Amino acid sequence: MNPLKSVNGAILTSLLLMAALSFALGGSGFSVQNLDRWLHIASGVTWVGLLYYFNVIQVPGLADAAADKGGPGGVGIGKYIVPRALFWFRWAAVATALSGIILIEFAFRPLGGGFMQVMALKEGFTVIGVGSWLGLIMAFNVWVLIWPNQKKVLGITPATDEQKATARNVALLASRTNFVLSLPMLMCMTGQSHGLPF
Ligand code: HEM
Repeated sequence: MNPLKSVNGAILTSLLLMAALSFALGGSGFSVQNLDRWLHIASGVTWVGLLYYFNVIQVPGLADAAADKGGPGGVGIGKYIVPRALFWFRWAAVATALSGIILIEFAFRPLGGGFMQVMALKEGFTVIGVGSWLGLIMAFNVWVLIWPNQKKVLGITPATDEQKATARNVALLASRTNFVLSLPMLMCMTGQSHGLPF
């Protein structure tokens, strides 16, 4: 049985490889903080990777499909791809936000900056504070604006054609807002400990 032939098998293989490399390269003992940081980055990549897929690939692709009158249309994408992508998208957002908040406590509480102080942009924590605000606003957009409106578009929540058109527009603008916030957010995430580019 080749594990690379199933998604679960590939995920498991990657996790095992990660653990094996961690033992081989470091082996200095189990660190919850470093495991949390790794989870934060892995879930953040999943979330923001899908955000970029939606904005750069799927939305323009579906617009082309709608304009292509003799073409196959986008019904299959809406039925088979979008629900799957949205599942990973919204739960990766939760994992990123939670692991990020825990990381604040691990990394900055000993330096005088717990969650409340970081969110209040206490001196010395302004860069990660701004980054955390941007990340949490993005997570809010996912759960309060994008997902409930996508449920109407996909027919999971009943809606008239007019309500679906409004929902599509709100979800698109919220997703575009997250797209715009993502690069400054990432700059702040890495900027706190490694410096800002300008
Ligand atoms: C949702 C709210 C978020 C919170 C509260 C948060 C919090 C944090 C914290 C506390 C750190 C540690 C900074 C340091 O040690 O200097 C960090 C680092 C980082 N975060 Fe986030 N984050 C959030 C969202 C995201 C998202 C969406 C991404 C997307 C990929 C992301 C990617 C990163 C990266 C790459 C680092 C750098 C790790 C390092 O330099 O060691 N974060 N974040």
